[in-house]
Amino acid sequence: MEKLVSSWYSSVQSLPETYVVPPDQRPGKITVPVSKTIPVIDLGKAVGDDRTDIVQQILNASREFGFFQVINHGVSENLMEETRNLFNEFFNLPDEDKASVYSEDSSKKCKLYTSSFNNAKNKVHYWRDNLRHPCHPLEEWMPLWPEKPTRYREVVGTYSVEVRELSLRILQLICEGLGLQPGYFGDKLTNYQTLTVNHYPPCPDPSLTLGLPKHCDPNLITILLQGDVCGLQVFKDGQWIGIEPFPNAFVVNIGYQLQIISNGKLKSAEHRAVTNSNEARTSIVSLIAPSWDTVIECAEDLVSESNPPLYRAFQYKEFMGTYATHGGDTETVLEPYKLRV
Ligand code: OGA
Ligand code: NI
Repeated sequence: MEKLVSSWYSSVQSLPETYVVPPDQRPGKITVPVSKTIPVIDLGKAVGDDRTDIVQQILNASREFGFFQVINHGVSENLMEETRNLFNEFFNLPDEDKASVYSEDSSKKCKLYTSSFNNAKNKVHYWRDNLRHPCHPLEEWMPLWPEKPTRYREVVGTYSVEVRELSLRILQLICEGLGLQPGYFGDKLTNYQTLTVNHYPPCPDPSLTLGLPKHCDPNLITILLQGDVCGLQVFKDGQWIGIEPFPNAFVVNIGYQLQIISNGKLKSAEHRAVTNSNEARTSIVSLIAPSWDTVIECAEDLVSESNPPLYRAFQYKEFMGTYATHGGDTETVLEPYKLRV
């Protein structure tokens, strides 16, 4: 386990050379302003007369920021806290327990690894460990999940199901806002769910390194739970802004597939994770994604002569191939899919 940052960080005084990112990516001062403008939306009001207002708030936030937070979302605070505690416990397990989940084989479905998928090949490393595995349908994937801490499967199983339900509710509101057929996001577009848990240990020099480099999420929609530690930043109008941590809110962000389906109406925003020198940060991220063979295209209802499609149709697996070869580079990853209009 000598590679996991969580296993060795406490024995180093300074940042190892391989973790220093190129000058144009360095965060420098990491205490960027925390945004008060990224909307915090009260999902408890998405009923009765207020529903259209909530739908509008979600649409506006998704258009302007590609990000919003939700409160009164129906997932119990108890479960959120239990899940956070459980993952903290996981990353503090003795090395021999982590070793049984660790893998550098990218085809492995459930794995613990460090930095990025191509860590061995990449010259620059990122200050994070990551545990990821699929979680829908539960019965199919749970047998592959970690067995320690002992309550892992029980807690993470309940959490995955509840967060999936929340994601589908948010997608239903987005569906209404965009004026798509009811149930547009049912079935294949949301067939896949992955849990990816980032752990960023305290870092000796947060100004020179990143936990995660600038990227947009390749999937449909992402629901992220962060604790009370800052670290997630969004790039907006040429500036990085911090997402304010609220322990009981979820951060929601639009993935590339939703940008494409909405014909550019909703925005997949660039974001990154910075580290800090005082305390570890763990983010629990649920990615809702289409199944591999799903055809993705601009929704017919959002395309007209005056509003031609911005992207060509493709299979999701083709996009994921491009995303992998471009290393998620936000400048180029959409190029093969853009139509010149
Ligand atoms: C991600 C991501 C941000 C964070 O996992 O895709 O953007 O705060 N994470 O960990
Ligand atoms: Ni992301």
